[in-house]
Amino acid sequence: MKKIHLSSVDSTNAYLKLNYKELDNYTFVSSDNQTNGRGRNNRQWKSENGKNLLFSLLILDKELIKHFKEISIISALTIVEILEEMDIKDVSIKWPNDVYVGTNKISGILLEAVTRDEVECLIVGVGINVNQKEFIGDYLTNPISILNIINREIDINGFKEVVYGRLIDNLESLLKGHDFYPYIYSHDYLKGKQAYASINNINELVQIHGINNDYSLKVSVNNKEKNIDFGEITFHI
Ligand code: BTN
Repeated sequence: MKKIHLSSVDSTNAYLKLNYKELDNYTFVSSDNQTNGRGRNNRQWKSENGKNLLFSLLILDKELIKHFKEISIISALTIVEILEEMDIKDVSIKWPNDVYVGTNKISGILLEAVTRDEVECLIVGVGINVNQKEFIGDYLTNPISILNIINREIDINGFKEVVYGRLIDNLESLLKGHDFYPYIYSHDYLKGKQAYASINNINELVQIHGINNDYSLKVSVNNKEKNIDFGEITFHI
């Protein structure tokens, strides 16, 4: 495994997509700045230079690639664990892979796959708001940073080491069959809420029951239960 740090890049996910053939499993690439940071659903991921943790992890291990359904939620859970250990309260996972503190988003994950005949690699891209004070502009969510919560800056390099180490540990535990579901169940942001979900491109008001143990989301639409495997949930305010 190898760690690469760049002062600026278009996107750490794009960097790994371009270079994965020459790199090892668990290569970790971070950057102070991204000129074209991407979020889910083709959104931008904006971050002030040097203030936040922006990284991508390369997964080449074929056994781990088979767990692609669990990987983004396990990555979110890893961030929840670390924030809780920093004594931050009310941290939860907004299915499928956002991390919230209270009703504010502190971290987002973009999982991408490079596929030829089969999946060649997975790229787990993570943005965590760390020392950024203000979020000005058109954000769809209410961003928050660690600084906003604990009122002091933290050392991003030290924090990066903790996140990297714990993420690898959790992915290795996933391979060994560890059951993360109880932790996920108890940190489920959407459980019991009503939200708009785009299901097959139609926006529906749904009642959310919570994350299932196969990591799909159980909802009721017009009083009929269904499990959503993917799809964006947007809050009905
Ligand atoms: C989301 O919440 O929509 C996902 C955001 C993912 C952002 C990270 S920052 C590092 C990596 N590089 C990118 O371009 N995106 C991910």
